[in-house]
Order: sequence, then structure tokens, then C-alpha cells
Amino acid sequence: MVKDTSVNICGVRLKNPILCASGTYNFRESGLYYDPAALGCITTKSVSLLPWDGNDAPKIAEAYGGMLNAIGLENRGLDAYIKTELKMLKAAGATVMANVVGRTAEEYAEVAGALAATDVDLLELNISCPNVKDSGIAFGTDPKTAAGLVAGVKKASGGKPVIVKLTPNVTDITEIARAVVDAGADGLSLINTLKGMRIDLRTKQPVLKAGGGGLSGPAIHPVAVRMVYETRRAVSVPIIGMGGVMTGADAYELMLAGAVAVAVGTAALIDPAAPLRILEELKVFL
Ligand SMILES: Cc1cc2nc3c(=O)[nH]c(=O)nc-3n(C[C@H](O)[C@H](O)[C@H](O)COP(=O)(O)O)c2cc1C
Repeated sequence: MVKDTSVNICGVRLKNPILCASGTYNFRESGLYYDPAALGCITTKSVSLLPWDGNDAPKIAEAYGGMLNAIGLENRGLDAYIKTELKMLKAAGATVMANVVGRTAEEYAEVAGALAATDVDLLELNISCPNVKDSGIAFGTDPKTAAGLVAGVKKASGGKPVIVKLTPNVTDITEIARAVVDAGADGLSLINTLKGMRIDLRTKQPVLKAGGGGLSGPAIHPVAVRMVYETRRAVSVPIIGMGGVMTGADAYELMLAGAVAVAVGTAALIDPAAPLRILEELKVFL
């Protein structure tokens, strides 16, 4: 079995290639189960400039081989993030990737600029958000819009590596990947959740209050493998793969597709310590 499992992502050394996926880890709860410094990196929940309320319940629903969520990017805003979650994680010795959201390109750049002045290690842009200045179309579904957003963030981010998290809800993910890399993205992470919906047979209404939600979990793993594989052949920046990783074998499959490191999301909502188990299983393959 290998001893040194470290990987390098845009100049940042991760002690091993397993990360937590954004929105599925928080220090106060997940920190009870394992030392966050034991993983390659902790990706924190999307943070916006000011607090966001998120959606009304029900916000999650079960689906075959996974789950739907419509949390609505609820978060306590940048100041609270820096003073609490980031501070606690850094005090615990974790490598941290801060996931950034905004309603406008300027808001993304402002959050990235403020985080650049902290000891956060990497920035991850969640570009699945609607752009309020452009009829609500998601930043990550239009190559030009996505490129403009990334260029603005790069200017503000003071040299911190910028990883762009791609949405799978597009016809050709390589088109977006090329556009954001040309605009300066240092790395990519993929995939975010796939759009889905469930309808309650009794009420005949959507199960989620928001209507639709994002599908995650093992059901989306083959989609992630294909998208990482295609993206690897389109661009040369490091890729963090994610989507339905439940075992070390799933993580290894994403690495064979072209990912340098792999993030675990939904599996940690079933068993909070799953990322550590998956790391041990992955070591056997490595
Ligand atoms: C409950 C939940 C909350 C999430 N919140 C975020 C988020 O705040 N920002 C983000 O970029 N992705 C978010 N995601 C997407 C995950 O980070 C990941 O990309 C996706 O779930 C696929 O991985 P998985 O199948 O291992 O969960 C969330 C996923 C879940 C299940």
C-alpha cells in the first residue's frame, strides 16, 4: 500500500486525494466524527456576501440511488463564515477550500477578494447560481457569462487558486470548461447536482417546496465519470471529481477518468465518517 498519498492542486499540497464536497460538511456536526485535518481538504458550504435565507421545507427528498435537495444555498454570510467555520477549521489544522456564491459577478468577486485576505487555501466558485442581472440564467450554463465571472474573480483573488465548480446541467460541459480555463480558472471541480423533481402521488404536488431540486448520490456517478473523462481531454488544469462516490472503488474510477482528487458528498449524509472510510479503501487501489 502507498505511504505518500499526497496530491498537488494548483500549488496547494493535499495530504491525500479525498475531500468533502461543499454543503455536506460542517465543523460543529461533522467534526464530532473525525479530525478534519485527516482529509486532503474540507470544502465548506457555499458562502455569499450577506446571509441567505434558503428555501422553505421540505428541502430534501429521497430518490432511487440518491436524494434531491433544494437547500437554496442557505448560509450565514461571509463575516460569520470567516469568524466561525473557517476559524475553527484552520485551528484544527485542516486544509480548507471555501466555496463562493453570489447573485452577481461583482458579488462573487467581492467575496473572493475578502477570502483572499484570509488563510483559506483554495477558492471554489459555485457557478450553478442564477445571475440576477441576466434574466436569472445560471452563470455556469453560458460560456461567456461563466468566463466573465471567472475573469472578475481572478482579478480580485490575490493569487489564491480559483477552482471553478461546473454544473452538469448543460449540453456540452467541455465548452464551459474551456471557457472558464481560458478566463483564468486554475482548476475545475465537477459535478454539481443534476436538476430533478419528485411529485407526491397523494397531493399531486412537487415533494420539495421549491418545486425542483438537485439530484446527488450514486445515481449520478456514471454521469460524473463521463463528464470528468470528457473534461480531462478538453483542458489540462487539475480536476477534482465528485458525484455519487460511496466507496474507494468509486473514487478510484473518477481518478482513472482524470481527476487528481475526489470529493465525497451524499455518502457523508448517510455516514458522516464515510470520507475517512473511502480514503482507506482508495489507498488499497492506489
Ligand atoms: C445537501 C446538499 C447540499 C449541497 N450544497 C452545496 C453548496 O452549498 N454548494 C455547492 O457548490 N454544492 C453543493 N452541493 C453539491 C455537492 O457539493 C456535490 O457537488 C454533489 O452533491 C455531487 O456529489 P455527491 O453525489 O457525492 O453528493 C450540495 C449537495 C447536497 C446533497
